[in-house]
Amino acid sequence: MQFTGANILSVGQFNPDAIQRVFTIADQMEPYAHRRKRTKVLEGAILGNLFFEASTRTRVSFGTAFNLLGGEVRETTGMESSAIAKGESLFDTARVLSSYSDIITMRHPKAGSVAEFAEGSRVPVINGGDGANEHPTQALLDLYTIAKELGHHGRKVDGMHICMIGDLKYGRTVHSLSKLLCLYKNVRFTLISPRELAMPDEVLNALTDAGHAFRVTDELVGEMDADIVYQTRIQQERFASLEEASLYRGKFRLNNEIYTRHYKPNTVIMHPLPRDSRAEANELDNDLNQNPNLAIFRQADNGVLIRMALFALTLGVADIVNKYDTDVVWFSNKARY
Ligand code: NCD
Repeated sequence: MQFTGANILSVGQFNPDAIQRVFTIADQMEPYAHRRKRTKVLEGAILGNLFFEASTRTRVSFGTAFNLLGGEVRETTGMESSAIAKGESLFDTARVLSSYSDIITMRHPKAGSVAEFAEGSRVPVINGGDGANEHPTQALLDLYTIAKELGHHGRKVDGMHICMIGDLKYGRTVHSLSKLLCLYKNVRFTLISPRELAMPDEVLNALTDAGHAFRVTDELVGEMDADIVYQTRIQQERFASLEEASLYRGKFRLNNEIYTRHYKPNTVIMHPLPRDSRAEANELDNDLNQNPNLAIFRQADNGVLIRMALFALTLGVADIVNKYDTDVVWFSNKARY
């Protein structure tokens, strides 16, 4: 895969070598992300960070990743505050904003919208989530997290058992992650959701084509020898009404008691976040917060490394980052890491 100048729109663009390249560069980003060193390799470059749908982690980590490489960030959030609300097309918006930036990251509620935007863009576009369709950077950071976490226990992605729970119909993170896992061997999937929110056939067919075994169920409990449990939120914004979404909210709660009783001692607990912590949902209980297998915050931290790697690769500077090193002169709590 040729990274320089490329759009990152779908996990379908990646092969095992490309994934390995992203992960190797992500590892090299640690000293910068952990504030042991600075780099100015992207000094003067501008990221257009366009988020037409709610986001905390993805939006801020794209911006942080670009800043950590020395670049600047211009941002627009929400549909109402942009000219799209006046009827402007994605093509026109892309034409204009791409002349203000060197690279664009974008999230939009409509499936296929980021690819449509990329048609009009003169600079690389990275998909930060397009409706229920895809979330390729999240899938890469999820896979990076899985490989690292399993690595600590001497296990691998090939041959692992992953259990995905929640809204598998509208959850773009599980769609992209499942497709990415099709590049690996003998992965076993347990897919737990209400029947109405089951994993789409398109994804199940991809798993079958990859030779993976999967079990579809609407029961949370049962003996589970999973290596990874990946919990998701009911995607209420994709339902016709909040009432409909609330039929499912709180159906699949994972707490310490269920975890201890039904999962192996070292099952890694993941969630793309945000977890819905309202009492009626509480999908991943706070009583798991002290559980060392809870990887959700390490997962979110890894997002910065992966996004730095993708910027460095698409802007063609991945191999020269350390030529632009400077010192960190302010107090930095290195003990955090
Ligand atoms: C996810 C998303 O936006 O698809 N969040 C994220 O990017 N980390 C998951 C979600 O919103 O439930």
